[in-house]
Amino acid sequence: MDPEVGNGCVQEDEELGWGKSLPVPSVQEIVRNDSLCVPERYIQERQNRPDYHSEVSYASSEIPVINMSLLANGDKDELRKFDIACKEWGFFQITNHGIAETVIHNMKDAIAAFFQLPFDEKKKYTMPANDVQGYGQGYVVSEQQKLDWSDVLFLVTLPPSVRNLKLWPVALPVFKESIDQYSTEIRKVTEEIFAKLSLLMGMDKDGLKMLHGEMKQATRMNYYPTCSRPELVLGVSPHSDASTITLLLQDDKITGLQIKHKDSWIPVKPIPDAIVVNIGDVAEVLSNGLYKSVEHRAVTNEKKARMSVATFVIPSEEVEIGPLESMVDDKQFPRMYRNMKYVDYLRHTLERKMDGKAHTEYLKL
Ligand code: OGA
Ligand code: NI
Repeated sequence: MDPEVGNGCVQEDEELGWGKSLPVPSVQEIVRNDSLCVPERYIQERQNRPDYHSEVSYASSEIPVINMSLLANGDKDELRKFDIACKEWGFFQITNHGIAETVIHNMKDAIAAFFQLPFDEKKKYTMPANDVQGYGQGYVVSEQQKLDWSDVLFLVTLPPSVRNLKLWPVALPVFKESIDQYSTEIRKVTEEIFAKLSLLMGMDKDGLKMLHGEMKQATRMNYYPTCSRPELVLGVSPHSDASTITLLLQDDKITGLQIKHKDSWIPVKPIPDAIVVNIGDVAEVLSNGLYKSVEHRAVTNEKKARMSVATFVIPSEEVEIGPLESMVDDKQFPRMYRNMKYVDYLRHTLERKMDGKAHTEYLKL
């Protein structure tokens, strides 16, 4: 096989994937070799640095917390809170979600175990040149672009039939089982959230689920090494997620995620065993802009590496995404986005560097 891919050409008999990303060094290895080293490629332009205060400030407010048990049981106040969270924040944390502590802890242990493997072992799961799944870094499209201070293992996890098990670390016996259990539980929580969102968007409670066809889950396991100059780098650049919703499991003690809210970056303080949920681009488009797919980023720190597991819930590839009829009203809420086949949207996002809200802008009429 020719490793020089770079012109977007695909062999006719090769399945057209979601995209590809250029190979980059492992940040974990850079830091392991020299904990003070911060190569030029990782140093952000001044205005993008985490400590850049003149334009945006850090606010002290906190994102909403939704009690899933109350929401599932039809509590009216909780539904109202949920609606406001989706409209005004695009982000919330869920508690009482019914996912057993052991399932969450096993998932966290599995990702920690993966990133603790020797580099030579991890390299066996390296992202192939024509794929975005595997161990490496996504959204790298030029040798010039600034790089994020993180390593990633990205895998499509559900449905099981679409998994590429060659890229799964089978060397870790508990890895697959932990993902199996975690993704099954995340699916249940997703269906609950979808049911409520469907009702709020003027559909039956099964509306969103049906519309997704065979719903998929893709999981991005993020490892953010320590950085001797955290004020110069970003763990992950500002972006919105190309999902319908994303469910994020983050470290219980280290704050790294920040969301853009009213022009300020707001840190998302971890609540032990809670899950951070955010509205993705698909939900923004379906709701005709009522629910917001909010820009977010992650920062690093000098003292402790941070890990997170982002589970992206996405529709089947052939689903056409566009504003729902129930969300459009020519006078009050004119159609804001054009329709597009989901896989085409996904490919569009994966061909570019992460760049704030550029992707939904591309769909705007
Ligand atoms: C992501 C993401 C944030 C974090 O993986 O899409 O936004 O805190 N991660 O790791
Ligand atoms: Ni994200």
